[in-house]
Amino acid sequence: MSGAAIDYDGLIPNNVDLAHDLRVRKALETWHPGYIDWWKKMGPELFQNSPVFLRTAVGVGSDNWAKFDFVRMPEYRWGVLLAPKIEGRTVPFGAHKGEPAWQEVPGEYRAMLRRLLVIQGDTEPASVEQQRHLGATAPSLYDLRNLFQVNVEEGRHLWAMVYLLQKYFGRDGREEAEELLKRRSGDTDSPRMLGAFNERTPDWLSFFMFTFFTDRDGKMQLAALAQSGFDPLSRTCRFMLTEEAHHMFVGETGVTRIIQCTCDAMKAAGITDPYDIERVRALGVIDLPTLQKKANLHFSLTLDLFGNEISTNAANAFNAGLKGRYQEDKLTDDHQLINAMYPVLRPRDGVLVNEDVPALSALNMRLRDDYVADAAVGVSRWNRVFTQTGIDFRITLPHVAFNRRIGEFAAAHADTEGNVLSREAWDQRKATMLPSADDAAFIASLMRPVRERGLFAPWIAPPRYGIDNRAGDFEYVKIDG
Ligand SMILES: [Fe+2]
Ligand SMILES: [Fe+2]
Repeated sequence: MSGAAIDYDGLIPNNVDLAHDLRVRKALETWHPGYIDWWKKMGPELFQNSPVFLRTAVGVGSDNWAKFDFVRMPEYRWGVLLAPKIEGRTVPFGAHKGEPAWQEVPGEYRAMLRRLLVIQGDTEPASVEQQRHLGATAPSLYDLRNLFQVNVEEGRHLWAMVYLLQKYFGRDGREEAEELLKRRSGDTDSPRMLGAFNERTPDWLSFFMFTFFTDRDGKMQLAALAQSGFDPLSRTCRFMLTEEAHHMFVGETGVTRIIQCTCDAMKAAGITDPYDIERVRALGVIDLPTLQKKANLHFSLTLDLFGNEISTNAANAFNAGLKGRYQEDKLTDDHQLINAMYPVLRPRDGVLVNEDVPALSALNMRLRDDYVADAAVGVSRWNRVFTQTGIDFRITLPHVAFNRRIGEFAAAHADTEGNVLSREAWDQRKATMLPSADDAAFIASLMRPVRERGLFAPWIAPPRYGIDNRAGDFEYVKIDG
């Protein structure tokens, strides 16, 4: 099957011909009740019975792939959707460059590939768990719907990885699929695999920052895996990327709307100094320095997801043809990195210096650099609001050495400008760079739900456009069913 049409007849919507793949269909149908059970226990804690205006994929082409309708979340048609097969595709990079792309798992890379799928798969349910309490305090029905859209799609991303595990890894794959439903974000005994996915997402500002910064890591990882020589993984990730774009849209526009609301309120009150925090907060909006601190936190937590700058695992996955670089297909080098070098920033005697290392071992660093550039473009769009409203402020990305726990900077303390600090200086200045308990309490105090059609909490501006072009007072979630 080339994969454009989706079969919605069976229990599991798919474009991988599950109707004729009895072994995998049975494995997925066996896994399904555990998934639904997980969704009901660990998915959104409220509104599971409310019809939500959700989009569901009806095709995998680049346009018209989605349809919008009211769905109760547990009845969402999670499915297995792969982007169309490209005939004649070859392994785009690494030692096997130019060989036909693999339709089956190459035996020698089985363990490595399984590990990549499990790590990616683990992040998907993790974010649903992190966001499960947010429905209680949504600032509008529009935002509530966007949260649930992100949640059901992260659920579908789990399906995507589980399909690959069950289809290509037999019993091992089925066991991993079960484990993906057992780990829990933030659990001390059985946490999710990566640090940022065990942090709390206590309020809507955190949610928007998470979807802006951390879902963007998802985009980079998926983009690197979409280059894979293992064709089913490439096709899976290519379709997942179309969904991921919406998650970052939610984060980017969410923060933009907060900035807009704050700037408008400051202007109306005649406040020109963004650091006049008490007066700004008294208006019932989020002060700009606190937004900056939240950005500092989520950016630094997300950078840790890229792992060690110098990594043998990353080199091996590239050589094997399993995980490429961001936009590998648009790069014009040898795609094998023979003799290539790449600069890695590292602390040396109290200062940060760039050192050239073999590019193969610096692939995590490179992906992180691509991420930072991508995030910076989004931040520049936030900053347009300051230009438009005339408020003298800019959100900036902190230095990559700031607040890190993994990699070259883990052992050092650095400020947001990248100056290396002593332990004492760090402790003293920390609260000026990261959200404090006071900041968290203030944000928490604003988190009161707004559930009337067309109304928004006073700390966030309405969106410019409705979802699927709906009017401003559209009832995106029919709370009472
Ligand atoms: Fe995802
Ligand atoms: Fe996402």
